[in-house]
Amino acid sequence: MLPIDLSGKRALVLGVADDAGFGFAIAKAMAEAGAAISVGTWPPALNIFLNLIERGKMDEGRRMRDGGLLSFEKIYPLDAAYDTLGDAPADILTNKRYKDVGDFSIAGLVDRVTADFGQKSIDIVVHSLANAPEVKKSLLETSRAGYLAALSVSAYSLVSVVNRLGPLMRSGGSVLSLTYMASERVIPGYGGGMSSAKAALESDTRVLAWEAGRKFGIRVNTISAGPLASRAASAIGIIERMVEYCAANTPLPEALQAEEVGNAAAFLASPLASGITGTTLYVDKGYHSMGMATTL
Ligand SMILES: NC(=O)c1ccc[n+]([C@@H]2O[C@H](COP(=O)([O-])OP(=O)(O)OC[C@H]3O[C@@H](n4cnc5c(N)ncnc54)[C@H](O)[C@@H]3O)[C@@H](O)[C@H]2O)c1
Repeated sequence: MLPIDLSGKRALVLGVADDAGFGFAIAKAMAEAGAAISVGTWPPALNIFLNLIERGKMDEGRRMRDGGLLSFEKIYPLDAAYDTLGDAPADILTNKRYKDVGDFSIAGLVDRVTADFGQKSIDIVVHSLANAPEVKKSLLETSRAGYLAALSVSAYSLVSVVNRLGPLMRSGGSVLSLTYMASERVIPGYGGGMSSAKAALESDTRVLAWEAGRKFGIRVNTISAGPLASRAASAIGIIERMVEYCAANTPLPEALQAEEVGNAAAFLASPLASGITGTTLYVDKGYHSMGMATTL
């Protein structure tokens, strides 16, 4: 057997607030492979997430192959829009969802991880978050502020995370993000600058692979996933249509399962993928290779 073995490794999965999205599926697959998991959760979603766990509403999703429940070493508050707490505006600092959670910036996350686990304590970082306040607007109608907010949270945050968490990562470590094909082909309705943010994320994956490879000895890859009706995707407003369209036009017609992305992520983070960095890996049932729709 050639196993995906992540035992003894610690993963930090950023962008988990329920059990429906890719981040959760990735966390679970990595836990199944033996990794210890901590997550970063957006403060506005943090209480709901903690409640879901506490009330057992996620037990079914958390159930592992061995019968136990997926557990998290730590659940950190994280707003990836801010590199330091000083960058957060007054209305955020005083907001009821933020004011009692402590330092929710990327620098705050680094401080907490260092305090909890020490230097050189992380092997895997997963960036599974995105946000665009104007996602329902076409690119043409997106404001400068909306466009920059999409780029800031959905793309620049990866640069900041690699820069700040890189020193905490052990050599051979792996950073992974999630992208979408709207970066390279037009997906009408995927607006607000999100297509631009994904294009930046994919380009940054290549440059960060080079820079962080040389500086920290870590790998940086991104998975281009097919559509999944997660909470974030439902905000786009056309996700059901995207899923249906893909089912009708992908080489493999079954709807993409989050678990399939989780398994690919576990492989990419494992020593089996030690030669892979700077790549965009499609986990989309083959849709990216199509040139003509079979349905009109
Ligand atoms: N669902 C899809 O169809 C699809 C397809 C391809 C790629 N992706 C990508 O997968 C990743 C995960 O998304 P998902 O669809 O699984 O949905 P999801 O809702 O599970 O994950 C998105 C997470 O981002 C968090 N978030 C939003 N703003 C944040 C901020 N400022 N700071 C920190 N966290 C923040 C949300 O709370 C949420 O937990 C995203 O990068 C998304 O673009 C999704």
